Amino acid sequence: MKYVQNMVCLGCGEQYPVEPINVCEMCFGPLEISYDYMSMKNKVTRESIQNGPPTIWRYIDFLPVNPDFIVDIGTGMTPLIKAKNLGKELGLTNLYIKNDGVNPTFSFKDRPVSITTSKAKEFGFEVLACVSTGNLMGSVAAHGARANMETYVFYPNTLEKAKILQTSSYAPTLIALEGTYDDANRFCTELSDNNNWAFVNINMRAFYAEGSKTLGYEIAEQLDWQAPDHCIIPAASGELVTKIWKGLQEFSEIGIISPPENTQLHLAQAEGCSPIVQAFNNGTSEVKPVKPNTIAKSLAIGTPASGSFAIESLNQSHGTATAASEASIIENIKLLARTEGIYTETAGGVVISVLQELVKQNKIQKDDLTVAFMTGNGLKTQEIFTDTIAEIKTSPKLKDFEKSLLEHKNKTLVST
Ligand SMILES: Cc1ncc(COP(=O)(O)O)c(C=O)c1O
Ligand SMILES: [Zn+2]
Repeated sequence: MKYVQNMVCLGCGEQYPVEPINVCEMCFGPLEISYDYMSMKNKVTRESIQNGPPTIWRYIDFLPVNPDFIVDIGTGMTPLIKAKNLGKELGLTNLYIKNDGVNPTFSFKDRPVSITTSKAKEFGFEVLACVSTGNLMGSVAAHGARANMETYVFYPNTLEKAKILQTSSYAPTLIALEGTYDDANRFCTELSDNNNWAFVNINMRAFYAEGSKTLGYEIAEQLDWQAPDHCIIPAASGELVTKIWKGLQEFSEIGIISPPENTQLHLAQAEGCSPIVQAFNNGTSEVKPVKPNTIAKSLAIGTPASGSFAIESLNQSHGTATAASEASIIENIKLLARTEGIYTETAGGVVISVLQELVKQNKIQKDDLTVAFMTGNGLKTQEIFTDTIAEIKTSPKLKDFEKSLLEHKNKTLVST
């Protein structure tokens, strides 16, 4: 908290003290945490960061958290892997995969939720809650358990079974709502007004949003203190895109990296829910709501709260926005698994599809330093694969095995 100044309205600039509020009283704009970058210069350095723990908490000087209240489940410093095999298939020599699906609850959501839960403890809340497209609720339930808080998670009743099963193991109260995420979100906003709960992505949204900045810091540090040429980032509410950009800007602001002048952000959505892509490609920052119909359920937000801010980040970075065809998502989850041994969820499939498209359109050149963000783990969306498994069925006898293997090889030869 050393460097936190206040909360500022992104709409009109009105300033507020740091409290669990999320909209401006004057213009209803969202609030954002502001920092005293001047004081950070020379005090927060590459060395001071490297001396921190191997988690997101190494970036505590950039976060609105009092160290006495940290709720830590070991989030962050996930692998940034040079993707030589996938790069070769796509004709890229400098492609990296940020594998954030290996966080404690298997998605990047542990970043925003660690910050919010810590802040909720500091504010003295006893109840933690969220409205989720699937990954957030697992993270909130885990952090709630760790923080000894009563926890409620709300979600549309069409989510993947694995996400619900995982979440239930942390023993929160699970509420499956009829309708879409956007219906659930409307209901939870009303609920939040009537309860003194820390709703991580409603009244605590300003703190929640800050957590995603750590992905920006981390890739810059892992790339030996530089920003990449391209970031391909999945979007639902649009917050992650905006905050990776804010992270890179902040590092540059205090002199930890050079200004990210050559960094382009590329926003990725699935065709069945691409309101931000549509707005961006129509040359407007006014995002029109859509009704989601996509297998990328984690990205199925039809009314993205931070859509216009994500577009602003794309414009500032001379970036792009692309929708992945639904059919390509499964194909590209498999491509990444087959080439790099990384198993990502549908949001990651969307990112690889968009990466391919950008290469095809020459928007990413052969030697460009490129980072593709895998934000969730493939184990969470297994059900999309159930009828595509080609296994050899045999008895554990040498003769039977050899015969079956031969049959299998012949079959794969015929089908390829
Ligand atoms: C796996 C995954 N990736 C990306 C996102 C997009 O995050 P944001 O809402 O910040 O755009 C989500 C959101 O739930 C997600 O679950
Ligand atoms: Zn305002």
